[in-house]
Amino acid sequence: MTKDIYIGEISRNEELQEDCFLMKVKVASSFENPLPGQFVMIRIAGLNDPFLSRPISIYSFSRGRNYCLLELLYRVVGKGTQILAGLIEGSQVEIHGPLGNGFEIQTVKKNIVFIAGGIGIAPLSLLIESLCRRVDCSPLAMTVYLGFQGASAVIGLDKLKKLCCDITVCTDDGTLGAKGFVTQIFQKDMKKFTSDNTSIYACGPKEMIKSLAKILNKSKFSCQVSLEERMACGTGACMGCALAVKDKKGVFGYKRVCADGPVFNLADIIWESRV
Ligand SMILES: Cc1cc2nc3c(=O)[nH]c(=O)nc-3n(C[C@H](O)[C@H](O)[C@H](O)COP(=O)(O)OP(=O)(O)OC[C@H]3O[C@@H](n4cnc5c(N)ncnc54)[C@H](O)[C@@H]3O)c2cc1C
Ligand code: FES
Repeated sequence: MTKDIYIGEISRNEELQEDCFLMKVKVASSFENPLPGQFVMIRIAGLNDPFLSRPISIYSFSRGRNYCLLELLYRVVGKGTQILAGLIEGSQVEIHGPLGNGFEIQTVKKNIVFIAGGIGIAPLSLLIESLCRRVDCSPLAMTVYLGFQGASAVIGLDKLKKLCCDITVCTDDGTLGAKGFVTQIFQKDMKKFTSDNTSIYACGPKEMIKSLAKILNKSKFSCQVSLEERMACGTGACMGCALAVKDKKGVFGYKRVCADGPVFNLADIIWESRV
């Protein structure tokens, strides 16, 4: 995958919640319009430790007169994201992208269900935003299930409230919205949707995606998931993000989450270990 590496300039890097930041980065206007679900590999320009870039989904994208504005919503979990959190306005970052396949939009289905766990809201938010902007989106009924550990971890909700979707917030501890895991709350509501008329899009931690796979197992719902796999090169060169999948004929193989994904059909993913 050959995509340009851009030097971006940070115009804002604000802590929205404890350890959760919104970074706005200006890049040259030659940056391609991203598809919802695509991501960038980001690293501090000129810094060698950590050497590897980190994958972050594109949360929002717009074009100015002579630049593009990328918005990245990220949670601090380790060294790379900690360094990003310390960057101030005017700092430069290397941005490689947009990378990955993005979500496939199936407009023939009337109901669209989005299931996000934690920071998994980032790629789904861009998808919802772009569907709401479409002139033909009025026949669509969009339902969003958002799961967080607790009220203090809720992120990205204000932006979604401005969009044309019905939102159910869930927290593991019940401090906001419905109490329980987001997949459990969705499961309780499942009878509201029919598989022939509903597309599901999900992003979140691996355990959440695995639970969703169990819930949807044997159902005919079409579900695309964006995976937050650990990555090294991010461009398909190292096989560090290999994912076991089966093709349409049920034949087992491996795909690279960075280059062939990060979006996959949930039903194609093989979860059990083969070794
Ligand atoms: C396609 C894609 C899109 C992503 N989009 C976003 C986003 O929009 N916002 C965001 O905050 N994060 C996103 N992530 C996850 C993000 O890339 C990692 O959190 C980040 O790389 C961690 O780097 P670090 O140096 O801070 O942590 P490290 O020091 O590398 O790791 C610290 C801890 O986090 C765990 N960890 C690291 N990477 C991941 C991962 N990918 N999934 C689960 N646990 C991990 C490690 O096991 C370790 O316990 C995305 C990942 C992928 C693959
Ligand atoms: S991270 Fe190197 S191939 Fe995907």
